Amino acid sequence: MRPHTTLFTACSLALSAAAGTTSVDATTKNANHIFNVIHDSMRQWGSSLHHNGVSFFLAVVPAGTQLYHGTSLSTPVNGTEWLAFEPEHSLVFARPHRGPPPRRPDEGEGGDGSWEGRHEDLRRDRHDRRDDQSSKDEDAKGYLHTYAAAKHLRLLYIDGMSAAKTDKGTLDSQDALLFDNTIDMNQAGKPGGPPGERERAIRACEMAQDDFAGRIDGILRMEAGFEIILCDFERDLVNVEIVEVASHESGNDRDGNGRKGPGGPGGPGGPDSSGWARAVASRYTGIGGGRVNLNYEHFVTAFSYDLDLFPEGSVHPRLNHLDQSDLQRIRKDITSTLLTHDPREFSWNWQATTDMIVLRYSDELSYLSSDKIETTEQLSKHINKLMAPFTDFRERNASAEADKCSSQFIPHTLKDVRDIAALAVHEVAHRVCSTLIEAAAEQDLVSAQKGIKSLMAYLDWTTWKECRGCQDNEICAVPIWPMGSIEDYEQPQCRDASNPYGNGGESYWGREPRH
Ligand SMILES: *[C@@H]1O[C@H](CO)[C@@H](O)[C@H](O)[C@H]1NC(C)=O
Ligand SMILES: *[C@@H]1O[C@H](CO)[C@@H](O)[C@H](O)[C@H]1NC(C)=O
Repeated sequence: MRPHTTLFTACSLALSAAAGTTSVDATTKNANHIFNVIHDSMRQWGSSLHHNGVSFFLAVVPAGTQLYHGTSLSTPVNGTEWLAFEPEHSLVFARPHRGPPPRRPDEGEGGDGSWEGRHEDLRRDRHDRRDDQSSKDEDAKGYLHTYAAAKHLRLLYIDGMSAAKTDKGTLDSQDALLFDNTIDMNQAGKPGGPPGERERAIRACEMAQDDFAGRIDGILRMEAGFEIILCDFERDLVNVEIVEVASHESGNDRDGNGRKGPGGPGGPGGPDSSGWARAVASRYTGIGGGRVNLNYEHFVTAFSYDLDLFPEGSVHPRLNHLDQSDLQRIRKDITSTLLTHDPREFSWNWQATTDMIVLRYSDELSYLSSDKIETTEQLSKHINKLMAPFTDFRERNASAEADKCSSQFIPHTLKDVRDIAALAVHEVAHRVCSTLIEAAAEQDLVSAQKGIKSLMAYLDWTTWKECRGCQDNEICAVPIWPMGSIEDYEQPQCRDASNPYGNGGESYWGREPRH
């Protein structure tokens, strides 16, 4: 059953947002997913749980924003490299390259999941590639570079956990879609050769020039922290400072087996694990500081095409099974969006609208579906109170009430707008409102609550996995590649911030990161 909508009658008119190949039907069908795409964007929490991104946004990082780069080199970068938003993220890479990473004692058993042990997985991937050419330039030291954006940086944001090198689908939107399956994974075998990462960066910057007419400066992705692949450091950044990091950062705290040396995790003055975990967790609800602005009126999402993104009952969306022609269709729409819209143009902040809806109804739905509700009277009384603002008691009309309730959060001036965000947000709001109204009218408590529970399954809001009441020394631990267990995904818990992933359990990401 699909609730009717009066404002947005479903039909197959093309959406304005993306060159006429997306459909209103698909957007309405996938409204829940698109709503979550908007709500999760630039947030470490939602993007970790919904880790397979299939969407592309125009993004701007304002001039002056400070960004970080960790390396074994003490001179400013010239060319294409990685930048982090949090200095703690860059510290992981502010170490010399010392041959292949040590084999972890736990390897082959699915990983110990420890934060410190897993640093190496991130690091061995990349960032220190340049050491191959210049290993003699520097002796066993690491440097943290601070840069500031010299202008408003125009970026293509690839959503989800798109910098996580997994085979769970986190790379589909890049490798299958954007880069047309041309990334050479065999690179992985070469010394210091990151598994396709360098090539992704090169391809992205070539596309920025050739396909996107120089209209973007790089791409924006997420792993344990948000990061930018910036094509031209020298042109787009001001170097603020370069500091040598404590020698413990240089790997002296490890023996050849990759075990921690004296001083425990990180060691005194070493890479402070709790600092990094907290730095990541502090961005759960948003990158903060107005450091990234997305265009929610003109973006491209595979969810707005008439495609099956959940092959063989996949829990998370995939793109690697799609036909070339479908991938090409989406790629063309990304290009035309980039060519016709400036990332800096004003757009309505639909994420703020999704926030109002989620914050208003998240706890209410959870409560109404719980065993704290014991009778139908209790349920309908509570729902009637929720719906009171939308009820005209002179003339009760359930469908009019659902319509009023679902347009509450949508700016009146945008009520007839038919872009992807507007359609998806309205559809989701309408589902919430109409399901509540139906539940209030049910005679039987079990079926009333069943309706609410199936609404919650449909919505799949990540707020329902948030921890409650963590202590000052704890963070809510959710799997963030390469860390975390299956249990951490199913039910994130408050964990000691100095070792949030030390509880063992089977790795969420599988035995080995992808190469
Ligand atoms: C950076 O690279 C460009 C192109 O290779 C070169 O023209 C420029 O002089 C370099 N700048 C510095 C400071 O090395
Ligand atoms: C109820 O409201 C809808 C508009 O939402 C209207 O089309 C319909 O005619 C109304 N029904 C009655 C019985 O007034």
